[in-house]
Amino acid sequence: MAEKKLLITTLPILDLNHPGAHDVTYRKRREEITAAAITFHQQDSASRQIPLVDYTEEENKVWQQVVQKLKPLHEQWACSWYQEGWKKIRISQEVIPQIRELSAQLQTLNGFRLEPIHGLVQPREFLLKLAQNIMLCTQYIRHSSNPEFTPEPDIIHEVLGHVPLFTHPELNQFQRHIGIAAAFATDQELTSLNRLYWYTIEYGLILEHGEIKAFGAGLLGGIKDLTNAFSGKALIRPFSMQEVVAADYNYSFEQPRFFVIPSLEFLQQETRRLILGFTARERIKQELISSP
Ligand SMILES: [Fe+2]
Repeated sequence: MAEKKLLITTLPILDLNHPGAHDVTYRKRREEITAAAITFHQQDSASRQIPLVDYTEEENKVWQQVVQKLKPLHEQWACSWYQEGWKKIRISQEVIPQIRELSAQLQTLNGFRLEPIHGLVQPREFLLKLAQNIMLCTQYIRHSSNPEFTPEPDIIHEVLGHVPLFTHPELNQFQRHIGIAAAFATDQELTSLNRLYWYTIEYGLILEHGEIKAFGAGLLGGIKDLTNAFSGKALIRPFSMQEVVAADYNYSFEQPRFFVIPSLEFLQQETRRLILGFTARERIKQELISSP
């Protein structure tokens, strides 16, 4: 699909009941980082470069703290795709990685790319980028008062949650197909796609050799989310497309329910069935053929 200029419409930080919403220094720092991401999207796509961020000692400390706590949790609960992906990509545990460098690694590996973004974008804009094999990534880090949970994406979520999974070509293909369908979806169909993305790529669980493991980035990049999912208190349901597309969510809090897929093939089949039921099924079918 042709690349189009991003319409940048993000949700303001104060709307998110964010722990840093009233910290003037934190907000100023975020503005510095996000200004460069905004400029990136205004530049010519042929010559622009992902901005580098000079992370502070305090920011790197939050990163180290979260990595140290997450690593043993990953050993216990991360799915095999994630464990394998971690070995294929170099991610520093000491300092916050630059998404420019991670994007270059992914591009060499399988053509997937990262682009900076300055906050949560509208679902259609976000999903359309996936159709082009691109993930929009925030570069700022969560507020140091709450390293274990973030109500919105940040560099920890993007890198520790998503990046190792972008080494998986079939999982990238699944995301690409959601993005292709998003280009032609009605608003109601888009809600279904957005919920499908949320309950799989963000908060999905998978059955591996009879054990439930995490493959969602919200889980793998979030200490509280991951421990909550495996605490025995969360509602764990077998994946049903009907239930997933009807299940609303709230990103401001820990998730109360999760869906378990039996395999990626199952998820791909169910997704194909969903999107070929959309109003613009013929256009979607053509795009799926030209973008396998
Ligand atoms: Fe995410």
